[in-house]
Amino acid sequence: MDRYCVFGNPIAHSKSPEIHTAFAAQTGQELAYERCLAPLDGFVDAVRTFIAQGGKGANVTVPFKLEAVKLAQALTIRARAAGAVNTLVFSDDGIIGDNTDGAGLVADIVNNAGVPITGKRVLLLGAGGAVRGVVLPILEHRPARLVIANRTVAKAEELVEQFAALGGQGVVSACGFDGIEGDYDIIVNGTAASLSAELPPISPSVFAPGALALDMMYGASPTVFLQFAGQHGAQLRDGLGMLVEQAAEAFQLWRGVQPATADVLHHLRSRL
Ligand code: ATR
Repeated sequence: MDRYCVFGNPIAHSKSPEIHTAFAAQTGQELAYERCLAPLDGFVDAVRTFIAQGGKGANVTVPFKLEAVKLAQALTIRARAAGAVNTLVFSDDGIIGDNTDGAGLVADIVNNAGVPITGKRVLLLGAGGAVRGVVLPILEHRPARLVIANRTVAKAEELVEQFAALGGQGVVSACGFDGIEGDYDIIVNGTAASLSAELPPISPSVFAPGALALDMMYGASPTVFLQFAGQHGAQLRDGLGMLVEQAAEAFQLWRGVQPATADVLHHLRSRL
């Protein structure tokens, strides 16, 4: 049976085995998907051992997404742009590194929330790895504007410089939280603030009427960002849909079959 796994440290919390096992059952694919706790200084060895044992592919999560870039012998354009790898394919040609996080976010916004990105004003909060990973897939949907706002403005400016050359010229711009001008149709929180129950200091005026607010984090109750957005009339989504969609994208890459995500998302939600 073909084997896959997710490498991380810690890894016990990962929902990926549950998600991929559900996709496999639904699509009639025979595969096994496990959790793999790699030592903090032993990611590369753990991957090589898994390949030697016949592993076909893997997901990579915190803190190994940057190391996986170096390990891969070839990178997809979106993995290179993201500067991080969350999906590995072990092929006859070597180790291929991809990043499905941004495609997962876009699929959740466009297909699950039913909100087109094309022609819309998009505000991204944060400029760390999570945000860098989603910029290119968002730009590919041709938003009217893409503003990256971050506590440390220089980091947002660096991203703008990088993505101006990748189709973002004239579309993408950077600012601090107090420099955000106008209102937005789609507001995505990609900061780590939700982890400590903090709210990025943004004005309620950023939410256009009927705006979609999405937090990349998820949990049993809404994050402070989603609570704030809800108080100002936004439609809300947490990061669980993005999680399931990035997995679907990886599954498609490995197996050549696109799984349906709605039931899996519903099931995970009921168990949060
Ligand atoms: P990740 O890979 O999860 O994106 P990261 O690369 O460490 O993690 O980035 C964390 C992001 O959350 C950064 O944009 C950070 O802002 P700075 O660049 O100014 O550090 C942002 N962040 C973390 N805590 C925050 C808080 N309390 N309020 C606002 N932004 C915060």
